Amino acid sequence: MKAFIENMPKAELHVHIEGTLEPELSFALAKKNNVSLPFDTPQALIAAYDFYDLPSFLKIYYAGMSVLIEEDDFYQLTWDYLAKAASQNIVYAEIFFDPQGHTIRGVAFDTVIKGIRRAQCDAENKLGIRSQLIMCFLRDMSAESAMEHLKLAEPYLDWLVGVGLDSDEFNNPPIKFKDVFALARKWGLKLTMHCDVNQKNTLEHIRQVLEEIEVDRIDHGVNALESDELCELIKSKGLGLTVCPVSNQFVVQSLTSGEIRDMLKRGMKATINSDDPAYFRAYLNENLIALQQEGDFSRSELKTLMANAFSVTWLPESDKRAYL
Ligand code: HPA
Ligand code: ZN
Repeated sequence: MKAFIENMPKAELHVHIEGTLEPELSFALAKKNNVSLPFDTPQALIAAYDFYDLPSFLKIYYAGMSVLIEEDDFYQLTWDYLAKAASQNIVYAEIFFDPQGHTIRGVAFDTVIKGIRRAQCDAENKLGIRSQLIMCFLRDMSAESAMEHLKLAEPYLDWLVGVGLDSDEFNNPPIKFKDVFALARKWGLKLTMHCDVNQKNTLEHIRQVLEEIEVDRIDHGVNALESDELCELIKSKGLGLTVCPVSNQFVVQSLTSGEIRDMLKRGMKATINSDDPAYFRAYLNENLIALQQEGDFSRSELKTLMANAFSVTWLPESDKRAYL
């Protein structure tokens, strides 16, 4: 089964590029950029990873960004992820980035997006892995800041396939960003938002992403299973759900294999993803292998999960067919 998973051509639709920062690269960049890290070795840094809910993860995730300063740093970060992804037989990836996590530290938007884009182009040419970029807004920052960043992206619209919403969901409902997402839609971008596992007001947040924002996809969205009505709506719209088993395990102590199977039984388009693989110490293959073991998933179920991923990508329909 492990070989079956490893050999399967795969798509990944929920991976934060800053969440792919491996401790070794973090140390190399810290040295180059004269940034001091509060750890002596990459192993000591990993040992300090202590996540049990979304805020405890985000604190470490944002602290990790301090070493990313120059365009080449964003290039190296993205190249390393795409090389790792290609080595896992991922043939297509949609990658999130968090520009506000960088501009707030004085790193220019252009520096971030140019480094990422250059690595995407090189990886496609040299490694054959295709990718598209999704710009995320931090929901614990203001709607005004999100709007400013959308406008910073205007010269680069050809480099973006969509926008997303991440960071701390507590008291930051989707509706807060209604105008920002409406403008992004007007500019031709696809829309997705995180509805993280077990958040306050989760069902109301899922309802808002469906009915008020009218997203094209939902990131996580596992709690929709608590409402038959929301499940029906997701199914009728054919929306993909980007579920992240190992990420979920830190919050709910389960890879949510039961919930993922339930989604498949209901005909919902669940997909499997790694979220922040360097922090959670599991890339896509490790997520799939762990999930298969916990839930005793069959080959046919794994094939369905991967076919779902390709079918809900934001590739042009004609390109999508080549993978299905
Ligand atoms: N949820 C919310 N924000 C995030 C995540 C996540 O899983 N990863 C990086 N930022
Ligand atoms: Zn995420």
